[in-house]
Amino acid sequence: MNDVFLNGQFLPADQAQVSVFDRGFLLGDGVYEVIPVYAGRCFRLAGHLERLQTSLDGVRMKNPYSDHDWQTMIEQLVDRNGGGDQSVYLQVTRGVAPRDHVFPTGVKPTAFAMSNPLQPVPEKYKKQGVAVITMPDIRWQNCNIKAITLLPNSLLKQQAQDQGALEALLIRDGFLTEGAASNAYAVIEGTIYTAPKDEKVLPGITRELILELAEEAGIPVIEKAVNEAQLKQADELWISSSTKEVLPVTLLDGEPVGSGSPGPIWQQIDVLYQQYKQRGTS
Ligand SMILES: Cc1ncc(COP(=O)(O)O)c(C=O)c1O
Repeated sequence: MNDVFLNGQFLPADQAQVSVFDRGFLLGDGVYEVIPVYAGRCFRLAGHLERLQTSLDGVRMKNPYSDHDWQTMIEQLVDRNGGGDQSVYLQVTRGVAPRDHVFPTGVKPTAFAMSNPLQPVPEKYKKQGVAVITMPDIRWQNCNIKAITLLPNSLLKQQAQDQGALEALLIRDGFLTEGAASNAYAVIEGTIYTAPKDEKVLPGITRELILELAEEAGIPVIEKAVNEAQLKQADELWISSSTKEVLPVTLLDGEPVGSGSPGPIWQQIDVLYQQYKQRGTS
């Protein structure tokens, strides 16, 4: 049984308990992060902690810990659970209070973290690419906040799975925002397009790194959402997330994307991404 962290304590997962009055449970009132760990070292931790702060600010919650305290706790949790490659999940909810939409006062947030083995990205996803479907973006107007309230994302992802696809690409007002659990990219005539960082998308930590790597490699990037027609005609499509890295999309709503195989610019970025990981750069 893995150890988890709850409100300042490490304890076996089956002994960790949260009140039924926790606002995370009753109202979905909380935010979270998912951080990959390679060979015992957190990947791009500073970016994740910065985004956690932005999410907390966005829902008017105080951060229960300093970045230094988060880092120390996460490193201990990873160690206790055997090091290696892990996926760390952090969650902060507004805490325990009688159920009411209005925020309670004087309540301590509930801070929780768990760490599980990081599943390697299946080779076949990279060799063949993955299938996605397009769906209307039914989420709220603050998708830049990493809120635990994931019912729309979950419904969308399930619809993708029901149709044999890995991800749902979301369309809002005729434009591609992102995936239900990933950022999305279209390559058109050698340029990478991805939606700008605004309230319609989560500012992905993997997205940030991909844009850095593209810039270093001299691959042009335009932070602009593509419309549905451009999406259908793109030479390459990709999705990215901390646990899936960068994946080529080769089937869009049952139709091949570009040549139908993972494209050359994806291959270039994937090589750079893997090299960056190997260097253990945080
Ligand atoms: C909606 C959404 N967009 C984008 C991402 C990718 O973010 P990151 O690269 O920080 O994992 C995620 C990750 O879970 C997500 O849920």
